[in-house]
Amino acid sequence: MINNKTLRIAATVLASFILLICCGVAVISPDWAIRLAAAPSATQMVDEFEAVSGPHPGFRRNHAKGVCVSGHFESNGNAAPFSKAALFKPGSYPVIGRLSIVGGDPAVNDARGNLRSLALLMVADGQVWKTSMNSIPVFPVRTPEVLLKQLQASVPDKATGRPDPSRVQAFREQHPETQGFRDWLTVTPPSSGYDNGTYYSVNAFRFLDEQGQASTVRWSMEPEAMYAPQVHESSGGSDPDRLSFSLAKRLQQAPVRWHLVITFAEPGDPSNDATRLWPTDRRRIDAGVLVITSHQSQVDGPCRDVDFNPLVLPPGIEPSDDPLLMARAAAYAESRNRRLHESRTQ
Ligand code: HEM
Repeated sequence: MINNKTLRIAATVLASFILLICCGVAVISPDWAIRLAAAPSATQMVDEFEAVSGPHPGFRRNHAKGVCVSGHFESNGNAAPFSKAALFKPGSYPVIGRLSIVGGDPAVNDARGNLRSLALLMVADGQVWKTSMNSIPVFPVRTPEVLLKQLQASVPDKATGRPDPSRVQAFREQHPETQGFRDWLTVTPPSSGYDNGTYYSVNAFRFLDEQGQASTVRWSMEPEAMYAPQVHESSGGSDPDRLSFSLAKRLQQAPVRWHLVITFAEPGDPSNDATRLWPTDRRRIDAGVLVITSHQSQVDGPCRDVDFNPLVLPPGIEPSDDPLLMARAAAYAESRNRRLHESRTQ
């Protein structure tokens, strides 16, 4: 029987999809339509993020703790032969960004975050490119359906306030593809600061050149600052906001810089599976330097109302067939819609 909730979910999915099509970031293909019908709705997905971390009105439902940053991207022209995006022509283009840690609690101690993130909104000749990147090059799951299951397995038990270890273990056993994410964390602990981490697109995209020739790519932002692992302090006395504090100190001395590195897939490399790395010998080019010059509070800074929807792409960059991308776009819009209609309580 169709009830009100089902209708609301169906309406949200349809509205998100129509919005993406109207914005020119998606076209309907039978393949996408089948995937969309099978995928959880944005409402379900965001409800589940809330179930894991509790509602924190006014804040992002994931990556809730963060800081706004501003600067520019200095393009060197190296990527222009592969993508007609205006941003790849040599020049300097304005950037609004956000550095954050994963999770839905905006007051969490930075020491608990095992994943850092960098999101960017870049504008060149009126073309907008939004990208949100994580400090681990793979994602734990391949599809939105399995992400929903992972979130369901992570909802804290009412008695203990923590996820039930047996549910978490059962999920891991049913989804061995999550192992790559855990392995990466073991070998590469999170960076000591925001400024010395590498941030990865994780999902694949397609570059289109002026002639319509396509290349499948992933990208990363690689820091000029030397990576050092986060040091775990045994007492609870560490600064809970050490990441934004140390970034502010660094920016007092000099801008913070990362190189935008484009990695090209070869035939057989998966474009629709964010749990799998590509071989390390793939061709890479350095497309230019991201220069961050200032930071602002996320409570009233320029990144506050932005959702860094990964499907807002300029001509010359297109989505791949990765099933996570459409689900991300819809969930970010839903999360933004909720937080902009709430007052903050923290
Ligand atoms: C189906 C898969 C995913 C879902 C449902 C999801 C969900 C979300 C949601 C709800 C937000 C908050 C958005 C906002 O309020 O503006 C968010 C933020 C974010 N997500 Fe995802 N996410 C997914 C996959 C990924 C992947 C694969 C990456 C890897 C790069 C990623 C990176 C980020 C980053 C960096 C942010 C913070 C952006 C900001 O600073 O505003 N997410 N995600």
